[in-house]
Amino acid sequence: MKPEKFYPDTIKKALQQDPPGEWMPYVPEGCIRLSSGYPDPALVPSQQLKGAVSTLLDEEQDLPLHYIGSPRIDSLKAFILARQEERGFPAKEEDVLITSGACQAIDLIARILLDESSVVVVEAPTYMEALEIFKNYTNQIISIPIDKKGMQVEELAKLLATRQEQGLPKPKLVYTIPTFQNPTGTTMSVERRMQLLALAEQYDFLVLEDDAYGELAFYQSPKALKALDQNERVFYVGSLSKVVAPGMRIGWISAASEFIQTLSWFKKDLDHPFSHASMSALLETINYKDRLHQLNNRYQEKCQVMLKALETYLPDSVTWYIPKGGYFVWVRIPGSDTSKLLTKASQAGVSYLPGEFFFMNQEEGKEYLRLSFSYESEGQIEKGIKLLGSIL
Ligand SMILES: Cc1ncc(COP(=O)(O)O)c(C=O)c1O
Repeated sequence: MKPEKFYPDTIKKALQQDPPGEWMPYVPEGCIRLSSGYPDPALVPSQQLKGAVSTLLDEEQDLPLHYIGSPRIDSLKAFILARQEERGFPAKEEDVLITSGACQAIDLIARILLDESSVVVVEAPTYMEALEIFKNYTNQIISIPIDKKGMQVEELAKLLATRQEQGLPKPKLVYTIPTFQNPTGTTMSVERRMQLLALAEQYDFLVLEDDAYGELAFYQSPKALKALDQNERVFYVGSLSKVVAPGMRIGWISAASEFIQTLSWFKKDLDHPFSHASMSALLETINYKDRLHQLNNRYQEKCQVMLKALETYLPDSVTWYIPKGGYFVWVRIPGSDTSKLLTKASQAGVSYLPGEFFFMNQEEGKEYLRLSFSYESEGQIEKGIKLLGSIL
C-alpha cells in the first residue's frame, strides 16, 4: 500500500523536505553535549514537581484527570498574565492561549495564516524547528541576516521596497527571536524593534515574536517587542521550557483576541490539562522571581566558563558573539566545514550543532557552529572546548 496516494498536495510537498530532527546529531555515549539546548539537569525542579503533583491529586482527586481539568488551570493563566506584565505589556485573559510549548504555538500561528502562496521572513540564522514548521506550509521563505544587534532590519526594509517595486507578493509574516536569540545569543536593539514595527505597519504584515529565552537575562531583559506594538501586529509566543521544564510542554500565545479565537478554534482540546494543573501546582510552591535569579546566575557563570575556555583553547582566528542571556554561544571558524568537522569532534568526545541547520540557504552556515552552555557542568564545558580546540 502506498500511503502517499491518500495525501493532499500540501502534505506531499511538505514530505519532500528533510524529515524533522534531521539536524539532531548522533551523540555517542559519554560525549560532552555542547549540542543540547536543554536546561541544566540540576535546575529542573523534579523533586518539587513530585510534591506538587502529590498535593494536586490529594486535594483534587480525579479532577485534573478529566477533560475539563483542574480549577488550577486558571492560576496558570494568571501566572502567564503576570509574566506578560513583567515583559512590558499587560494582556487580558482573552488575549492569551495556552499551548503545548512554543512549538505548538508557532505551528498554530502558521496554520491559521499560511498557505503555499504566503511569503514568510525569518532571520539568518534562525531556530531550526521553526524553519521546519514554516516549510510544512510554504516554500516561500526569505531570510534576513543577523548581526550583533539582531535582525538587520534595514535589509528587510530594502527587500520590502524591492519586492514592491517588482510587484512581488508581500511577506505576510516575519518570524523573529529578538531577545537572546537561538542560535546566536544576540538581542535586537530597540531602534531596530521600532523600525520593524514601523515596517509592519507600512507593508501590512504580522510579526511572530518568539520569546522562549526572554527572561533568561544575565543583567536585565529588554522589554518584549510586543511591548512596543501599538497596532496588534505582534503574536507573542512564550514558553516555560527553558525556565521550568521542557517536558511539561507549556507555552502560550498572546495576541489580539480575534486571532486568539481563531487559534483556539484549531487548537481545540489538543493539550494536556494534567500538565497544566501540575505546572500550576508547582508554581504555587516556588518563588518564580527567586528561581529566575538563580537560573540567571548559574547560566551566567557557565557562560563565563565557556567564553574563557574559547579564549584559552581556540585559535585566534575563531570568533563569537558574547551573549547577555539565553543558552548559546555562536562561533565562527573561518574556512571550516562544521558539519564535516562534527565527526572528528564527536570522536574526540564533544558535540555541537553545525551552523548549516539554522539557515534557509545551508551553505551560509558552513563556518558556524552553536555551542550550548546550559546543559553540561562547568568542568565538562571547559573539557569540551579544550577537545574542540584539539581538533582545529
Ligand atoms: C527559539 C525557540 N523557540 C521555541 C523553542 C521550543 O520551545 P517549547 O519547548 O516551548 O516548544 C525553542 C527550544 O529550543 C527555541 O530555542
